Amino acid sequence: MTEPIDEARLHAFVGKMLGDLGGALAVPTVRIGLRLGLFDALAQGPATAPELAARAGGLHERYVREWAMAQAANGYVDYDAAAGTFSLSPEQAMVFVVKDSPVYLAGAFELAAAMIEAEAKVEHCFRTGEGVRWGDHAGCLFCATGAFFRPGYVNNIVQNWIPALEGMEDRLRSGAKVADVGCGVGFSTLLMAEAYPQSRFTGYDFHEPSIAQARRHAAEHGLGDRVDFQVATAKDIAERGFDLVTMYDCLHDMGDPRGCAAHMREILGDGGSWMIVEPIAGDSPQDNLNPVGRLYYNASTMICVPTSLDQEVGEGLGAQAGEARLAGIVREGGFAHVRRATEGPFNMVLEAR
Ligand SMILES: C[S@@+](CC[C@H](N)C(=O)[O-])C[C@H]1O[C@@H](n2cnc3c(N)ncnc32)[C@H](O)[C@@H]1O
Repeated sequence: MTEPIDEARLHAFVGKMLGDLGGALAVPTVRIGLRLGLFDALAQGPATAPELAARAGGLHERYVREWAMAQAANGYVDYDAAAGTFSLSPEQAMVFVVKDSPVYLAGAFELAAAMIEAEAKVEHCFRTGEGVRWGDHAGCLFCATGAFFRPGYVNNIVQNWIPALEGMEDRLRSGAKVADVGCGVGFSTLLMAEAYPQSRFTGYDFHEPSIAQARRHAAEHGLGDRVDFQVATAKDIAERGFDLVTMYDCLHDMGDPRGCAAHMREILGDGGSWMIVEPIAGDSPQDNLNPVGRLYYNASTMICVPTSLDQEVGEGLGAQAGEARLAGIVREGGFAHVRRATEGPFNMVLEAR
């Protein structure tokens, strides 16, 4: 016998779905607005649709008007019906315009698009159990990932995460040797290098186009003399004697995190520390059934698990592995002490010694 429909529950659920679908359908219009500078143009002050179209460099008014109404309906811009103008509140600007704000979300929209682009590849893997190579997911998953994580790094690495490690800030100030493993396009490496000019940094990643982009970023920032970027898998790093190894949002993506942990132990010098930044998660799956866990589980299905299953061992930890499981893996790699040094709304920071 089927359970009878509870009208109130159905109503509430469809209401929730309407909100979710609205968010999903906003992905392309938001991305167009970001690329064409429409949010930036609106940040200069209220504008009618023709004014906005002109301000954004002469776009077609009819498209801009529909776009602006869509963003007003999204709640992403404000609309003054009497004046016929659109505007951006300071809070909306934090999300769509201010690139160094901790809640700048352009990268999240890029990530959503990359996930949709890779849909057929991941669906195929559900049938075969294979993985998807990091560089094969979508046109530029690595750019989207860099953009997604950058606001969190700009606002936390130097201000909160490194100071939470035992004695590390002083060592970096006086001159330390650092490896940033799984560095992607290198934002984390460059932020550290900018903050600690006495120290030397090497970013490692197995994805060549990411390393090429990281090198370009280093040159643009004039940091080429104290930052080096190398193509290498985490387990193949030959250099030794690091004072600090950092891994930002990538240990769970690796095929063999246990083997990687053992290798990190090898490449650290005496008294060195390994900082592991991972998505925040509770140890029980039910702890993660919340808005942040929702983002991570979806991204993990489409990106993190396929990336890990593509590699040797294929551990497939997923983005919501939780501290207990991660710490167990780190201990198996030969680290006597693992602790949660700090955390934020999106990340936990583990310190292994
Ligand atoms: C989610 S991205 C994070 C990138 C960067 N740390 C950031 O936060 O923007 C994961 C990164 O891990 C790298 N990666 C995955 N498995 C790896 C491995 N076995 N060795 C080296 N890099 C690896 C990928 O190429 C990718 O750049």
